[in-house]
Amino acid sequence: MSDDDRAGLDRRSFLGLTGVSAAALVLGTGTSASAAPGGEGRVPGDPFGLGVASGDPEPDGVVLWTRLAPEPLAGDGHGGMPLRPVTVEYEVAEDERFRRVVRRGRALASAELAHSVHPEVRGLRPGREYFYRFRAGGYLSPAGRTRTAPAPHQRGGTLSLALASCQAWYHGHFTAYRHLAADDPDLVFFLGDYIYEYAINAGNLWRQGVSVGPVHDAETQTLEQYRLRYALFKSDPHLRAAHARAPWIVTWDDHEVQNNYADAHSQYGISPEDFERRRAVAYRAYYENLPLRRTSLPSGPDMRLYRRTPWGTLADFHVLDTRQYRDNVPSDTTAGGEHTDPRRSILGEAQEGWLLDGLRRSRATWNVLAQQVVMAQIDRDTGPGRTFSMDQWDGFTASRDRVLGAVQREGVDNLVVFTGDIHRHVAAELKADFADPSSRTIGTELVTGSIGSDGDGAPTDGYAGLWLSNPHVRFYDGRRGYVHCRLDATRLTSEFKVVDYIERDDAAAVSTVARFVTEAGNPGLREA
Ligand SMILES: [Fe+2]
Repeated sequence: MSDDDRAGLDRRSFLGLTGVSAAALVLGTGTSASAAPGGEGRVPGDPFGLGVASGDPEPDGVVLWTRLAPEPLAGDGHGGMPLRPVTVEYEVAEDERFRRVVRRGRALASAELAHSVHPEVRGLRPGREYFYRFRAGGYLSPAGRTRTAPAPHQRGGTLSLALASCQAWYHGHFTAYRHLAADDPDLVFFLGDYIYEYAINAGNLWRQGVSVGPVHDAETQTLEQYRLRYALFKSDPHLRAAHARAPWIVTWDDHEVQNNYADAHSQYGISPEDFERRRAVAYRAYYENLPLRRTSLPSGPDMRLYRRTPWGTLADFHVLDTRQYRDNVPSDTTAGGEHTDPRRSILGEAQEGWLLDGLRRSRATWNVLAQQVVMAQIDRDTGPGRTFSMDQWDGFTASRDRVLGAVQREGVDNLVVFTGDIHRHVAAELKADFADPSSRTIGTELVTGSIGSDGDGAPTDGYAGLWLSNPHVRFYDGRRGYVHCRLDATRLTSEFKVVDYIERDDAAAVSTVARFVTEAGNPGLREA
């Protein structure tokens, strides 16, 4: 039972409802909210400093999220919460003033999950906007806005969505989120590097106007350190505002655990056994801090993050996890070497089968892969040699061939890939044969630059020539920002947005530096 089906109760009844969250049932805390004594509502202060969020919309519901933390930056990572469970109530309304409340329920926030709650609301109407808020200990949260997906056979309509990734809080202000929220997207895709694990100190703290204590000057390794890191990054008001404005569909990349890891393999000499322990706490902190459904509740070092979100007949969004199951970095990284081994996989067998099956079955106009690392082949040698990144799909050419092969074989007309990772805006065409510029274009890749990582940046930087020397790369910009897309049955319009600076303050204006149209039935990029 994930929510309380008592539409129409007035606000005075807010405290008198029954129901217990899925999280409490799954965790078996032994205390159901409905049986909890009133004292469970007490919190030491306003617990909503980390904000509210929603995610993974379906036609009849969404998952809501908050994490109680009266002192988000308390050095022990507990957010200023006592270790006992606390009851959190939530309500969902059709209007911003909560006059037409349609769902109410309770969830139990337990210390085991850092006092986060992830109630899954059901019984909502498809394709509708809703508002939600929480209450705990007599405190009312800020309100969030969310949206349900269209009904499965719903045709037509326009979807406005934004892409974001890579938010190194210490490199600058999240100004891009201020503008992203103002665009009012229906949906936000987050494509990895929500946090970074690195020690934060005077050497990398480029965000002006803040200071951080010595507790942050260490690479995150323990559960408490990862929890604190999420709280630090969520201290940016524009990130919280962007969460409150639209449902998010999130996936991770490497820095939610450690730079460039592959499955159980650290690139820094940690044994697989020790690294799995670290992955377990990092995955748990990830779940605790994001609006994810119960199906993503981690179990030890394992967490199911790949999943599919259908959006009427308009789009199927296939959300991928290219970190957890990938083969390790090859020892031989020369062009044509071990990275082309047909046994290598970036998705792992189960996820690859799931993806190919989903592509085969899809009847949606657009098939979108929401994922982390660049899929297009990128030769990094601007001279006659050939060099590839082993951390991207180039390190797993057989995986790419299998996915793009299936796209051609099954006649998936409108493949779009959303990517993060490189801290640069890039638009590229996916080719039937990357070595032959005249070969068929079979899809479109939109790479969103970072929200914060790498500081101010510049339109052209030392990597621009490398990327643009690949003929299927159509656009490059090295500034911070996000991508805004408008999707309908006939076209995808993508706008690459940048801000000129982020280190000094959060006042920079936004500008659109490129606009492309991809027509349904005609993959690739047309400048517009
Ligand atoms: Fe990154």
